Amino acid sequence: MLLNGSTNVVTTLGYPISQSLSPAMQTAAFQSVGLNWIYIAWGVRAEHLAVTLQALKAWENHAGSNVTAPHKETIIPLLDGLTEAAARLQAVNVILRPEGKMIGHNTDGEGFIASLREEGIPPGGKRVTILGAGGAAKAVAYALQDAGAAELHLVNRTPARAEAWAPGLAAAGKARVSVHPLAGDPARFLEGTDILVNATSIGLQPEAVPLFDYAILRPPLVVTDLVFFPRETAFLRKARANGCRTLNGLGMLLHQAALSFQGWTGKAAPLPLMRERLETVLAERERSAT
Ligand SMILES: NC(=O)c1ccc[n+]([C@@H]2O[C@H](COP(=O)([O-])OP(=O)(O)OC[C@H]3O[C@@H](n4cnc5c(N)ncnc54)[C@H](OP(=O)(O)O)[C@@H]3O)[C@@H](O)[C@H]2O)c1
Repeated sequence: MLLNGSTNVVTTLGYPISQSLSPAMQTAAFQSVGLNWIYIAWGVRAEHLAVTLQALKAWENHAGSNVTAPHKETIIPLLDGLTEAAARLQAVNVILRPEGKMIGHNTDGEGFIASLREEGIPPGGKRVTILGAGGAAKAVAYALQDAGAAELHLVNRTPARAEAWAPGLAAAGKARVSVHPLAGDPARFLEGTDILVNATSIGLQPEAVPLFDYAILRPPLVVTDLVFFPRETAFLRKARANGCRTLNGLGMLLHQAALSFQGWTGKAAPLPLMRERLETVLAERERSAT
């Protein structure tokens, strides 16, 4: 593709941003559907977020953005509005540009559900335990509520963080919602669980103490971790060794990206190509980390 004066630009805003796997995946996807668009990672420190948003608003060939840590919540007052998905989570991972406006949206939860369905794990009627209560846990919990999960057990080191949003989650659907402290016997929240979602960031912390004794993770429990680098966290490794079916966060990353692509372009995302590019850049990152 030849970059020219008509090239549209999509950015991802975060800090740090050098770890982003999206530029190669999204640029290849744009080109494969015949769009003269590119995707670039834009490292933005918190103190520069407001001026960055002003610049993006003024940039007529800015077609949209992704938003990542640490800006998913603080970006909200800088936008022109939110979709329902972003409003209820009070978190944004996508900026859409209808009629030049900056509208915050969120595809994280829907991306997680798509990754489960792709693996033949429909969440309807399931009892799900979610470890963690940050933005990712909340997005996944609301999406599971929408998808018809029967029970949602929210477990966090700091239970107050889950208690703050559990009533809104309970009011959003029919699933029974309960909150549990992480400390103590994990059987309290794992009893009867069909799907366990690790939405803590412990998999990114190689030296972290395990959340609990993972010997309790036994089939038929399906065990997922939202982390994708490393592909197999200590949590997933132990669950797999015990015989559980496991799933990492790569599928969620792919599907939230595909939903972002559809939001910006109005076109169906070229999923096989995006998956292949994602695998390639992740393999490169793994090679450079060793
Ligand atoms: N695959 C994807 O597409 C995707 C998308 C979004 C996020 N993620 C991943 O999801 C994870 C969570 O993201 P987030 O945005 O929700 O992060 P966050 O808001 O920082 O929340 C982190 C959560 O992890 C818990 N935690 C951290 N260290 C812990 C430890 N040592 N022991 C027990 N609990 C611990 C925190 O508990 P406290 O509340 O007690 O501090 C909190 O519940 C990250 O690893 C992120 O990379 C993946």
